[in-house]
Amino acid sequence: MAVRARSGGKLPCTVDAPNDPVNGAASRPNGLAAEAPRTGELILVAGGAGYIGCVLVPRLLARGYRVRVLDRLLFGEQPMADFRDRIELVEADVRAVPPDAFDDVDGVINLSGLSNDPTAEYDPEANWQMNAIASEALGEECVRRDIKRLVFASSCSLYDGLPPGIHGEDAPVQPHAAYATSKRYAEQALMRLTSEGLCPVILRNGTVYGFSPRMRFDLVVNTFVKDALLAGHLQLHGGGWMWRPLVDIGDCADAMIAAYEAPADLVAGEIFNVVHSNYQIRELAMIVAGSVQLTGRAVALEEVPQPTLTRNYECANAKLSTTLGFIPSRSVLESVSDLLERIAPGDPALLNDPRCYNIRWLQLSNGVALEPESSPVL
Ligand SMILES: NC(=O)c1ccc[n+]([C@@H]2O[C@H](COP(=O)([O-])OP(=O)(O)OC[C@H]3O[C@@H](n4cnc5c(N)ncnc54)[C@H](O)[C@@H]3O)[C@@H](O)[C@H]2O)c1
Repeated sequence: MAVRARSGGKLPCTVDAPNDPVNGAASRPNGLAAEAPRTGELILVAGGAGYIGCVLVPRLLARGYRVRVLDRLLFGEQPMADFRDRIELVEADVRAVPPDAFDDVDGVINLSGLSNDPTAEYDPEANWQMNAIASEALGEECVRRDIKRLVFASSCSLYDGLPPGIHGEDAPVQPHAAYATSKRYAEQALMRLTSEGLCPVILRNGTVYGFSPRMRFDLVVNTFVKDALLAGHLQLHGGGWMWRPLVDIGDCADAMIAAYEAPADLVAGEIFNVVHSNYQIRELAMIVAGSVQLTGRAVALEEVPQPTLTRNYECANAKLSTTLGFIPSRSVLESVSDLLERIAPGDPALLNDPRCYNIRWLQLSNGVALEPESSPVL
């Protein structure tokens, strides 16, 4: 990967524990407790080899947890290189989990499945089986095994389509797109299992930004950074006035830990938005352009027509802070500066790597990507 170490001889792609300013921790504290309440627990992280997982897992290890990653390795195993020897890996599909994957597990964090609109639309049935049915089945298996805590990665895209305004977790969401519909089904199925003793915690993540060893350049801020470095210009569709809630990847990972560790009476069956701020796309482009220009590279903003389908929504982040004292704290500006220090602009290998673009990678892997019984793509 074309990733530069920042200073002090650090290895490329290393992800350290929280509070390291290089590796995704907030420069202001985000409220995550300094120590884990129950170290030594074994956490099953489904989808732990992905973009968020590769930042979350080392943080769990640093807090003294044991981690078992269950993942189909759609994007390979290499991003886990820095912590591979400290975890158990179950290479399996979340739709056909080997029963012993749950042995001795104390809690589950589910990040698995298809993780954006284009991949969900690419194969809506596979998306439904992974994101909705398999997420529900994970919850049911937890009930059977008396595993109490399950943290589920949902999405703020559920708010798309509501009237303008800043929506809280109790907003009457009515998703229509395949991705959001599957996430909503899983949320409701897991919340129903609260009556059977499960303690599900639903985190609706804003669009995530920032560096991960399993990099994604198909998320708006990361895409702008890639376009600024590769093409030297950023496109503003319809002026870029649409709103979007966003969160840094380190804060997103820490919010999952906070949700995992919180007292059950505060979080059981609850939904929390995980958002730093709502931004207009135009504002994001200006932040990225300005940051890149400070490194001596020219970046132009280009107005282009608005596409037929746009996403435009905002949501509140108060519940997470008032309930758990957790406040996502790393801004887009900080995270973009970090990205620019890590990505070597002269070497486009990482920026062009099709694995960093989920839909492109699935299309390239077409034929083996979405059937559970097939071999992993790589
Ligand atoms: N990244 C974001 O901006 C964002 C925003 C909101 C919600 N989320 C949610 O957070 C979760 C993680 O997102 P991410 O950005 O890390 O995505 P990602 O695509 O990088 O990671 C998903 C991981 O799940 C694995 N996976 C996919 N299908 C699987 C299957 N059938 N069985 C086993 N493993 C499978 C993949 O191999 C990959 O390692 C997803 O559920 C996503 O919907 C992400």
